[in-house]
Amino acid sequence: MGRLDNKVAIITGAAGGQGKVEAKLFAEQGARVVATDLNDALLAESVDEINAEIGSNAVIGVRHNIAVESDWADVVAKALDAFGTVDILINNAAIPGKTRDDVWDIDPAEVTRILDVNITGTLLGIKAVMPTMQQNGAGSIVNISSAAGLVGGISGGSVAYSSTKGALRAITKEIALDVAAAGVRVNTLYPGLINTPIMRSFSKEVTEAVLAKIPVGFAAEPIDIAYGVLYLASDEARFVTGTDIVIDGGYTAQ
Ligand SMILES: NC(=O)c1ccc[n+]([C@@H]2O[C@H](COP(=O)([O-])OP(=O)(O)OC[C@H]3O[C@@H](n4cnc5c(N)ncnc54)[C@H](O)[C@@H]3O)[C@@H](O)[C@H]2O)c1
Repeated sequence: MGRLDNKVAIITGAAGGQGKVEAKLFAEQGARVVATDLNDALLAESVDEINAEIGSNAVIGVRHNIAVESDWADVVAKALDAFGTVDILINNAAIPGKTRDDVWDIDPAEVTRILDVNITGTLLGIKAVMPTMQQNGAGSIVNISSAAGLVGGISGGSVAYSSTKGALRAITKEIALDVAAAGVRVNTLYPGLINTPIMRSFSKEVTEAVLAKIPVGFAAEPIDIAYGVLYLASDEARFVTGTDIVIDGGYTAQ
């Protein structure tokens, strides 16, 4: 028996990195998955690869810009059409800032670009799935933040990126209270450094400096985070809402 049997999940940013690993793990655990991403060419490859590996057609891919509301309507419509419902939303897609845009170098256009994706995109996703979840009287939403939303010094100096990740805490708590009576849970997961394309886009100096401060001594692989996302998404977490789970190798314990 899978931990997500009979569940339908939407996972954003699933063409690569952490989202792709979550899509595969969810499908292995019995979910049917709508994997979405802006990068449709890579998404199509990833969906084919996952379906071939698990020997089913449990995953479909939909091109999607999370910052565009009509794209969300399309994603939910495709989920309903293909699988009949939506039980889980993983707000995973996000964009990093420039590795250095500290307070002396704030560029309003850059801040707006990052807020549009990381914050507006998350809010639009929650808005888009709520009618179905409310109708079902059940649902689980996981917002993927970052240790950069809890402490300074891990994002390489991108104030805009860190501020979006910190804001997810408030978004989760406000909405969790709004929707608890409707049977919907909302939580935030804060990963530390993960070995994905975002990490590999950091300079060697930034990566080495962060790595040196991780108590367990290594960066997470995407699966280390995906197991936490799986727990929050599943009914095992039925009493868990409005809260924070940190998976960071001890980084924020210091
Ligand atoms: N890698 C890390 O070290 C790390 C650490 C903490 C938190 N995180 C968070 O984990 C999540 C996943 O990150 P990742 O490391 O797998 O990154 P990634 O860059 O590998 O994946 C992000 C995906 O989101 C997609 N995307 C970007 N903008 C989009 C948009 N507007 N609409 C739809 N898709 C879009 C990208 O095409 C990409 O496939 C992000 O929220 C990130 O902030 C990552």
